[in-house]
Amino acid sequence: MEENKIGRREFLSKGFKGIVIGSLALSSLDIVKLVARDKFEESEGTAKTINLSDYPELASVGGYAFVSKNVIVIRVSRSKFIALNNICTHKKCDVDYDGSSFECPCHGSTYDKYGKVTSGPATKNLKSYKTTYNPDEDTLTINM
Ligand code: FES
Repeated sequence: MEENKIGRREFLSKGFKGIVIGSLALSSLDIVKLVARDKFEESEGTAKTINLSDYPELASVGGYAFVSKNVIVIRVSRSKFIALNNICTHKKCDVDYDGSSFECPCHGSTYDKYGKVTSGPATKNLKSYKTTYNPDEDTLTINM
């Protein structure tokens, strides 16, 4: 009978350790993926190509994802993407995207999903970048 209790304790202990180790392993994979996604550099005059498979949010029309700290990509059709800098043109706050438009939390400027100003105080559109989609390789090149 005593053997059974010890066996059960060992079983529970090993099971708990397995759960903890498994959770840590999954967390590590998520961290590695996030770090990999953050490697995108925003350097003026350069082109950066991303694998769309790394951004499942962009798999469907209307999906969007930040591909770097301040560059958001929005899929507007099967083969067309928009890439915008999300820094407000008024006084440089980061604007928020809600899936259809941008709003600046600092002074309330708004922009449509193409980055065009829809209300001030900002008067200039968000900075946009030319994109080229390669359907054969499922990649998107963003010209900074
Ligand atoms: S910084 Fe965005 S509206 Fe002023």
